[in-house]
Amino acid sequence: MGRKLLLEHINVPGIETFDVYRSKGGYDTVAKALKMTTDEVVEEVKKSGLRGRGGAGFPTGMKWSFLAKPEGRARYLVCNADESEPGTFKDRYLMTYIPHLLIEGMIISSYALGAKVSYIYVRGEMMPQIRILEKAIAEAKAKGFLGKNILGSGYDLELYVQPGGGAYICGEETALLESLEGKRGNPRIKPPFPAIAGLWGCPTVVNNVESIAAVVPIIRDGGDEYSKIGIGRSTGTKLISASGNINKPGIYEIELGVSVEDFIYSDEYCGGIANGKRLKAVVAGGSSVPILPANLITKTIKNEARLMSYESLSDGGFATGTMMGSGGFIVFDEDQCIVRNTWNFTRFYHHESCGQCSPCREGTGWMEKVLHRLEYGHGKLSDMDLLVDVSKKIEGNTICPLGDAAAWPVASAIRHFRDEFEWHVTNGAEAVTRNFGLAHYADPLPVLEPAAQ
Ligand SMILES: Cc1cc2nc3c(=O)[nH]c(=O)nc-3n(C[C@H](O)[C@H](O)[C@H](O)COP(=O)(O)O)c2cc1C
Ligand code: SF4
Repeated sequence: MGRKLLLEHINVPGIETFDVYRSKGGYDTVAKALKMTTDEVVEEVKKSGLRGRGGAGFPTGMKWSFLAKPEGRARYLVCNADESEPGTFKDRYLMTYIPHLLIEGMIISSYALGAKVSYIYVRGEMMPQIRILEKAIAEAKAKGFLGKNILGSGYDLELYVQPGGGAYICGEETALLESLEGKRGNPRIKPPFPAIAGLWGCPTVVNNVESIAAVVPIIRDGGDEYSKIGIGRSTGTKLISASGNINKPGIYEIELGVSVEDFIYSDEYCGGIANGKRLKAVVAGGSSVPILPANLITKTIKNEARLMSYESLSDGGFATGTMMGSGGFIVFDEDQCIVRNTWNFTRFYHHESCGQCSPCREGTGWMEKVLHRLEYGHGKLSDMDLLVDVSKKIEGNTICPLGDAAAWPVASAIRHFRDEFEWHVTNGAEAVTRNFGLAHYADPLPVLEPAAQ
């Protein structure tokens, strides 16, 4: 069994209440951190090697050390709890079942950054989680862990929950800051980065829910201890939202470095493909990352076992690899249609584009239309090249990474499943109801059978 740092007490009855959480050692790290200097807390986070869990995997300690500290100006910590990436539902789980872990992490992290006012920006649709967090904040405040002079240390912190604007783009950190300021959630042009000019023009750190929660075990055990878990530069544990055609969908806390094959087939995690079907493909890190066929998700192109780590998942670049992303692990069995799925993802990105940049606004719409005609049997054989061309014109040419996030699923689906797209053209409207199945394994890459199905 892998170690659990975030979900260790998740099954303790009443853990969502202050008293039960406290009885399990909760909030002990607040007292510990407040006896350290702010630089010492940042140093522990640096030593831990923690990488942001919101998708980009940027080292958290390094991000914190970039925060500008001009005299006389406020600094802010903003927790990104907008969680809208299709396939990702781990932050909601943490906030629902163990909200005090996030609040404890917010207190230590705010202290380390010198923030006296901090925000948790929660996806607008998540009203139950907003109420849970507000209740937990009130409990923590009543016990002296928030507000003025926390535990007699002289440190003051006010923590607010802000309901989000109800758009996927509000999860992009600069759009989130715009929305938090009461404006439409449009991404800002960077630089300046939030560490220099963020919320109301003040230095700001934006971190994901899971990143902030992970600061609690880091301060409790020390950064060095945390860094011993995991593999290489992928340290610690990671929450994976597992969904799709598996026997046991759910949230799993893994030690980074578990093999993908173990993750899919072992009873500790997904428990294998449902209904005795075969694995066709996986989207390993939320809808934005490249889809990989079965043979490339379990093994790298060098025929080495692929691991659940930032490095191993991206081994092979986009030609044969993918990304860890936000850890939204979506499994497709042999009955799933890649064309339909790609159209569905593209529909989402087109709908969610904020419209500021033409390549994203227009390109996502064009891709959606072409994918729609392919799915419904009116496509042309030249459509695949057209889609790749449009995706290349979006990638890297937009203000924020939503453009890339829309381009990658399309380009990777055509890269790995082109024959399935062609089959949709040659079989016309009939392809909507028939199943292409696993025919793409005619690919020159070897078919690798799962070991423990
Ligand atoms: C379109 C878009 C949506 C995003 N949505 C989220 C989100 O819901 N939650 C999140 O933590 N990060 C999201 N991000 C990433 C954030 O911009 C940012 O990198 C992250 O909050 C930083 O936190 P971390 O360093 O702890 O990962 C999104 C990025 C983009 C481009
Ligand atoms: S890439 Fe898309 S979502 Fe991002 S700023 Fe441009 S139009 Fe808006």
